[in-house]
Amino acid sequence: MNKKERLDKVLANMGYGSRKDVKKIIKEGRVEINQKIIVKNDYKIDPYKDEIKFDGQEIFYRKYIYIMMNKPKDVVSSTDDPVNRTVLELLDEEYLIFNPFPAGRLDKDTEGLLILTNDGKLAHELLSPKKGVDKTYYVEVDGYVDEKHKKIFKEGIVLDDGYKTLPAKLEIIESNYISKVELTIKEGKFHQVKRMFQALDMEVTYLKRISMGPINLDKSLGLGEYRELDDKEIKRLKEKN
Ligand code: URA
Repeated sequence: MNKKERLDKVLANMGYGSRKDVKKIIKEGRVEINQKIIVKNDYKIDPYKDEIKFDGQEIFYRKYIYIMMNKPKDVVSSTDDPVNRTVLELLDEEYLIFNPFPAGRLDKDTEGLLILTNDGKLAHELLSPKKGVDKTYYVEVDGYVDEKHKKIFKEGIVLDDGYKTLPAKLEIIESNYISKVELTIKEGKFHQVKRMFQALDMEVTYLKRISMGPINLDKSLGLGEYRELDDKEIKRLKEKN
């Protein structure tokens, strides 16, 4: 059985305002529990079982939210930015009330998988250098990438600041003047993928993250589209950590 909780606490946890704000909302008669208007803010409910309506709209309680987004170019993966559009601006209000933030960054011109959550512990673990979560990128490179580069990436590459990267796995899709590869790294240094190729005198012309730990970018998501992770994905993400 789930624990019963105070109505004002549940609504505040869900992002409907501060404890003071939600007390006012409750007093105004805008909240229904099991089809009855409740005006007492210490009214006890089981947020997972009782039907909760706010302004006549049913709301579904959960503490954490986990979203995968196919980040488009020209949108920045920070929570606010004075100039650029942020990934949060792509989310609907029903998700924003949970205060999600991006777990990790992608450059402004990088596309692909971005996980947004309000679960700070999970985000921290996903990004912790100690955990070394795999991140796989599809990369198009101005340069001829061939078999010999697999060893070079595996042995680590010295970046412009002298840092030697951990072993990375290179898979070649197409060797040509513009090569197509997949690169899996366990770190997340600033502009890492671009700098790894730069160190080999090659320029990344297109970059897209296709997986992070056990989560693969859903191919049905167009650029700028997103969906919540399903239960299996959340379980895999938590198990991995
Ligand atoms: N490496 C980069 O260079 N850019 C990204 O956005 C992600 C990894």
